[in-house]
Formats: sequence, C-alpha cells, structure tokens
Amino acid sequence: MFILRSHAKINLYLRIGPRRPDGFHSLVSWFCLVGLADELEFRPGPESEVGAVTLTCDRPDVPCDGRNLILKAARSLDPVGRSAVEVHLRKRIPMGGGLGGGSSNAAVALRGLQQIWGVSLSPVREMEIAAQLGSDVPFFLGGPSAICRGRGESVTPASPPLASAAVLLLPAIAMPTPAVYRRFDEMGLGTDLDDVERHLPGVELPTLDLLGRLTNDLEAPAFAISPELCALRSRAEQIARRPVRMSGSGSTLFTLYDSQQEATDAAVILQHALGVPAIACSLGRSIV
Ligand code: C5P
Repeated sequence: MFILRSHAKINLYLRIGPRRPDGFHSLVSWFCLVGLADELEFRPGPESEVGAVTLTCDRPDVPCDGRNLILKAARSLDPVGRSAVEVHLRKRIPMGGGLGGGSSNAAVALRGLQQIWGVSLSPVREMEIAAQLGSDVPFFLGGPSAICRGRGESVTPASPPLASAAVLLLPAIAMPTPAVYRRFDEMGLGTDLDDVERHLPGVELPTLDLLGRLTNDLEAPAFAISPELCALRSRAEQIARRPVRMSGSGSTLFTLYDSQQEATDAAVILQHALGVPAIACSLGRSIV
C-alpha cells in the first residue's frame, strides 16, 4: 500500500484566444501548484479480479464510476491482464472550482498505477495520454510551475512566483467550465495571444506588483454568469487590500502573500467578513 498526494493548482494568469475549429480555445496560462491536496491510496485488489481497478472516495458526491478521471487514466494504461488495484481517494480539493482537482488525480493515478504494474511509459507517451484525458492533466505530471499553451497541454516549466503562500476563497458557486467558455464566445471575446507573449508578467516581480499584473480572461464570462461572484471579488479586494483573481474558470478566487503567516491571518479575516470558506496554503516552490 502507498499514498500519493495530488495537489491543486491555480492559474496565476490565464489569457484566452478565440475558439479553435476543434471547439477548444488556445490559451497562455501560468499554472502553479498549491499546498491544498487530495490523497490517493493504492492497494492491491483481490487476486481473482485480474485487470480490475476499483475506486472509492470519502465523499459520497464524487462519482466513482467510469466518469471519474482516475478510472479513465487506468483504462488508458490498458489494465487487461494486470494485477487488480483498489484506489481510495481522500477528497480535499473542491470540485468544479477551477483548481484542477480531477486533472491532478488523473496525473497521479497514471504515476501510481505505472509504479504498481512496473510499467514505465516514455515521457512523450505519458504526456500524450495525459493530454487525451484533459487539457490540464499534462501540467500535473510536472510542476510546481509552468507556462501552458495550446489548449493547455503544451507545458513549459517556469519559475514559481516569489510569493510563497496563497489564500483561496471557495464560494459554493458551481461554474461548469464548458458554460464559461460558451459565454466567452457569446461575448465575442478572444485575446491576441501573440501580444500576450510579448507582455508576460515577470516571475521576479514583488508580490503586490505581480498581483496587479495578473489577468484571467475567463473572469468576464464567469462574472456575467454569476454577478454574485463578481460582487464577492470586489468585497474581497476591499478587505484584503490587494488584487484578488479567479482561478481557471472559477469559482475559486485567490490572492498571494509573501509568508504563510500573512496568508493565515488574511484567511481568518476574509472568511469572517465574507462568510465564505477561505484557506491559506503554500504556493509553488514552498508547497507542502
Ligand atoms: O480539456 P478539458 O476536458 O478540461 O476541457 C473541458 C471543456 O472546457 C472543453 O470541452 C471545452 O468546452 C472547454 N475548453 C476550451 N478550451 C480549452 C480548454 C477547455 O474551450 N483550452
């Protein structure tokens, strides 16, 4: 038996181009791991059930059937004839919050199952399989920080920011990714990504300067879908007295700090003032 941690990510910035013919959108995004993590526990399954990978989870609302990316990852490794494996997921990353929890689980499942089965895919093949599972999955094979391009699957490692901690605000607002992209299209949005490449914020910027430079092009459509989320962001910025951004397609909001202590203090104040769960976590090279 062994346990692997499966970290969440935030998109420090996220710039989106127009819709591509295949329905996806080209993007340029700075991804960074945070200390918030699920755990995947891998155990040998019954000897009589060769080729079976089964999944259980401590949260009843998490689907444990073929819709779950962990089992899709298992299928993509062709389990026929291999020893049975039981995977138990301890879920800590909110689902549908723009934190990449499902994608992270898929990448960790790919690694854990290879370990159990004594398989070692080439890095290229592993990235191909990850990209088939989802646009964000390849990032989670590496980390802690990368610039992702294409539809997200083209990963270039990058230095994490100087900030070592983040506060995540986790409102109970469901923000399905396809709906946010659909609204993005309806609003006629689409940034010139060549221009974005020329003006990427530098990793060496002090935290407050960096926060002022961060942009998420999915905020406009997400806030159009949920004016409540837009209002929450404004109030959070007033209380935190610093820019607050949305991660991915939402609804998680975040801001950055130079120390875990500052982030912990801010999370207490934000949660109390806003009535929304707020957690402080480590970021980038400091993740624990
Ligand atoms: O690749 P993934 O399964 O995470 O994508 C979920 C949905 O998000 C896609 O079906 C698509 O509607 C949208 N998407 C997009 N452009 C991207 C990534 C995702 O339009 N680069």
